[in-house]
Amino acid sequence: MKQLRIGILGSGKGSNCRAILERVRSGDLAAEVRVVISDVVDAPILDIAREFGVANAYLPPGQFRTRLEPRAEEELVKMLREAGVEVVVLAGFMRVLHEPMLKAFSRRIINIHPSLLPKFPGLEAWKQAFVAGEKVTGCTVHYLDEQIDHGQIIAQREVAILPADTPESLHERIQIAEHELYPAVIAEFCEKHLETDL
Ligand code: GRF
Repeated sequence: MKQLRIGILGSGKGSNCRAILERVRSGDLAAEVRVVISDVVDAPILDIAREFGVANAYLPPGQFRTRLEPRAEEELVKMLREAGVEVVVLAGFMRVLHEPMLKAFSRRIINIHPSLLPKFPGLEAWKQAFVAGEKVTGCTVHYLDEQIDHGQIIAQREVAILPADTPESLHERIQIAEHELYPAVIAEFCEKHLETDL
């Protein structure tokens, strides 16, 4: 059976990456994770890739804080292409991607964000929802575009904000929802796109 070849990018602890790799290992996600790439040399997400025997690499990001240096972004495109990646999955990748990536993988880059977009884009979205006194927040999987946490929404999962919650307890429950939603969306994505021959 043909499997969709995906590449995962992340900067941090990699719990979503783990959820995806577990789902692939269990056999009910028709994808092959070809490579995991991080802009942080000692990011736990790279250890998770090694634990699952998946190719992994550190990409030196260059001198900027919130984006890759253009040369680094070109290098990223090259690394993903060399790994045969068809769909790019962002899992806590903390840099904004620009034209080299968006052009090379047009409508083939997806991201997960810890709020019900379009509400609360940006950092610590769970805390933003908590401070705003929302009763419900959640997580969103969306296509990437030029703007931060903005592209077309693919799927969302709601998470109630409980009276006893702290931002931390809320964040934990949102992450549990993410770990269910993201692999499920990728599974659907695989089924749909395998038919249309990427
Ligand atoms: C997730 O909460 C995701 O919504 C956001 O970054 C976080 C990554 O967490 N984009 P992890 O590294 O997958 O644990």
